Amino acid sequence: LSKIEIKLSDIPEGKNMTFKWRGKPLFVRHRTEKEIATEAGVNLSELRDPQHDKDRVVNPSWVIVLGVCTHLGCVPIANAGDFGGYYCPCHGSHYDASGRIRKGPAPLNLEVPYYEFPDDETVIVG
Ligand code: FES
Repeated sequence: LSKIEIKLSDIPEGKNMTFKWRGKPLFVRHRTEKEIATEAGVNLSELRDPQHDKDRVVNPSWVIVLGVCTHLGCVPIANAGDFGGYYCPCHGSHYDASGRIRKGPAPLNLEVPYYEFPDDETVIVG
């Protein structure tokens, strides 16, 4: 299937759920207020692949990214690592709660796929 529909009420605040989409893991993260504030406040000069959080999300409560490390493609672990987002155990890449690379060998942020919210309860990715 080229599109996946996800019911957002199944994902509590603070949790990341993994889905399978186009043969790849897809992360859907329901951020806390603290995570939203932290990521909005990151200075771009600290980033290897500089991107504002607001340019990576449609709704700040939801981070939707491919669960594919941009180093060599392992699946990162959610809510782990030094920046509270994702940690890739293969070679030690740390991503923040916006999916941006912060430390380790990965060169780029986790990829944001195309998605839209047809209503408050649903996201359609693809
Ligand atoms: Fe993730 Fe190498 S594949 S750090």
